[in-house]
Amino acid sequence: MTEPQRILLAGDLHMNKRAALEVIDHAQAVNADLILQVGDFGFWPRARYGGGVEYVTILDDALESAGLELWFVPGNHEDWPEPSKLPIGHDGRRAAGARIVELPVGYHWTWGATRWLAVGGAPSVDKHLRTEGVDWFPEEEVSERQAAAVIDAGPAEVVVAHDAPMGTPFLSERLQQHVPPALRHNWWPLEAIVRADAHQERMRRILEGVRASRWFHGHHHVRYSSNMEAPHGTVRVEGLALDGTPLDELTLLVDSRGEPIPPT
Ligand SMILES: [Fe+2]
Repeated sequence: MTEPQRILLAGDLHMNKRAALEVIDHAQAVNADLILQVGDFGFWPRARYGGGVEYVTILDDALESAGLELWFVPGNHEDWPEPSKLPIGHDGRRAAGARIVELPVGYHWTWGATRWLAVGGAPSVDKHLRTEGVDWFPEEEVSERQAAAVIDAGPAEVVVAHDAPMGTPFLSERLQQHVPPALRHNWWPLEAIVRADAHQERMRRILEGVRASRWFHGHHHVRYSSNMEAPHGTVRVEGLALDGTPLDELTLLVDSRGEPIPPT
């Protein structure tokens, strides 16, 4: 694949064939060269999840017709042990389908003069409703060790993550992070909220450690753009919505520097 100039970022798809096919159609309509998905792609290839293999096959066929590839960072809602069984290619990526590529945590690449970094993973606030090893996996989170390794690997201007960094004005307000977890109006278990905050703090350390100027993410299921002040400068954070929302909330077209391309 030649270096893409028009990249269609896409939010959480949750194995939703219809939404994923709409994203592929939209990518063609806006002349995108690549789809870059920010996690909770919905990679559930094990047979007992029925539909997981079909999902990949149908998307692969549509991507083939469109002449596109779809790259994704893992979200918390993926069958985590499955991608890790796939071999990492010489390019550092994993082929999850004929035209579907998983970007392991810490994978980085360069388009033009811009270094991009993939940081998939997030904690599931609905963990208490799930079964470990079946539909919940402890490796869903970026660990402290992984975060340190990502930072050690050097700067990156653009980060594609599943989770958000702590501290964006929009999300902090929405998640009531100005008050202690126990005092927030929220139906998730307190322990889950504490873990979610801690993971966002870890993302923030990565953001500052790699001196990112742009951060794209999903997971929080809401489309927003927020500027955040970090010690190294202003960071633009873009959250993408989820399957079932309009395409202008689910997707964002950017160039190889991560700069949004206005709709024509
Ligand atoms: Fe998620």
